[in-house]
Amino acid sequence: MKNLKPSRISLTFIVLTGTLLAICCGSPDVEDATGKKPEKTAEQQPWRGPAASQIPFYAAQNGKDIWYGYELISKTAYYLGPNGTVNQISNGMNCQNCHIDAGTKPFGNNYSAVASTYPKFRERSGGMESIEKRVNDCFERSLNGQALDSSGREMRAIVAYIKWLGRKIPKGEKPYGSGIMELEYLNRAADPAKGKIVFAGHCTKCHGDDGQGLKSPGGKGYEFPPLWGPHSYNEGAGLFRLSRFAGYVYNNMPNTVNWHNPELTKEQAWDVAAFVNSQPRPKKDLSKDWPNIAGKPADHPFGPYADTFSEQQHKFGPYAPIAQWKKEHAKAK
Ligand code: HEC
Ligand code: HEC
Repeated sequence: MKNLKPSRISLTFIVLTGTLLAICCGSPDVEDATGKKPEKTAEQQPWRGPAASQIPFYAAQNGKDIWYGYELISKTAYYLGPNGTVNQISNGMNCQNCHIDAGTKPFGNNYSAVASTYPKFRERSGGMESIEKRVNDCFERSLNGQALDSSGREMRAIVAYIKWLGRKIPKGEKPYGSGIMELEYLNRAADPAKGKIVFAGHCTKCHGDDGQGLKSPGGKGYEFPPLWGPHSYNEGAGLFRLSRFAGYVYNNMPNTVNWHNPELTKEQAWDVAAFVNSQPRPKKDLSKDWPNIAGKPADHPFGPYADTFSEQQHKFGPYAPIAQWKKEHAKAK
């Protein structure tokens, strides 16, 4: 293993700034240093994870693992990208590009429900999945790369961090604001042509006219990650499903917005999802996915299906008739 000095330096820096911030300004987290929850307001407040400055680096037994897990999730490319310092097993994106603020942002595809709900049965693989398996799914699909050794130091660290984030959520529960928001279906198919206009107006200034993003000056990762093409997520990734993409983008893109202050309308989010996911991207052998075809979600774009709707309709919608069919079919069983 290569030496990890740069991370030590940035660690000291972040711990110091974190402490200073906490002293002078108070922590913005829902979970403050004393572990108290803020007063309840009329509006339901979504879960927000603790900041990295709260990682119990010195106190906890596995504090160093938790910290290294945070590093790997926020700077994946630095450690594990094409020029990674530890290994070269992923496409240059960071986990954090899609799990905003290292998996702590409300409706930012956060990790709040992972420790509380895994291991769990997942239809995509047709089996029980551990956190390790789920993390490797993202390595192989979202990062279009290779799985980590599930008992190695890197995996141990990522899992330690994710468990630390979710440690206060009771077993089996999903807090409000976890993962990606479910947007209501449109009553028409999502439209790539309309999405192209949304893309030109709201996305190109960062992700580029060609959607290829912008490399960071150091050359290890991206300032703005690519949305399609050879360095993007592959067709087996969660974001390739329009509902995941639309829900993610609605609350998080442009990257200055949040769940109570979106820029796009929901309709625009669905249409831009249709446009981006119609562009070329890496393929993946998906023949082992969804062994029970009736378990495929309405917006899974590859047949065969238990119903008679076309691949086109499964990809772009309208989804309501498919969801209705699934409901009736489940009842009939
Ligand atoms: C291109 C975007 C993208 C990247 C990059 C990415 N993920 Fe994900 N990840 C997703 C999506 C989409 C989901 C599914 C969310 C859903 O279904 O609601 C997901 C789900 C997960 C889950 C399960 C969450 C849950 O509540 O069930 C874990 C754990 C996870 N990712 C870890 C990682 C790790 C670790 C990395 C980096 C090695 C990573 N992801 C990189 C998009 C991404
Ligand atoms: C102001 C700059 C900016 C704009 C405008 C913007 N993004 Fe992003 N986008 C980012 C950044 C930065 C990230 C990575 C987030 C991070 O690492 O915290 C990102 C990440 C993403 C991701 C997940 C990672 C990936 O590459 O797949 C998607 C999908 C995405 N943006 C889609 C969009 C769409 C669609 C629009 C237009 C509606 C848009 N973005 C507009 C800056 C921007």
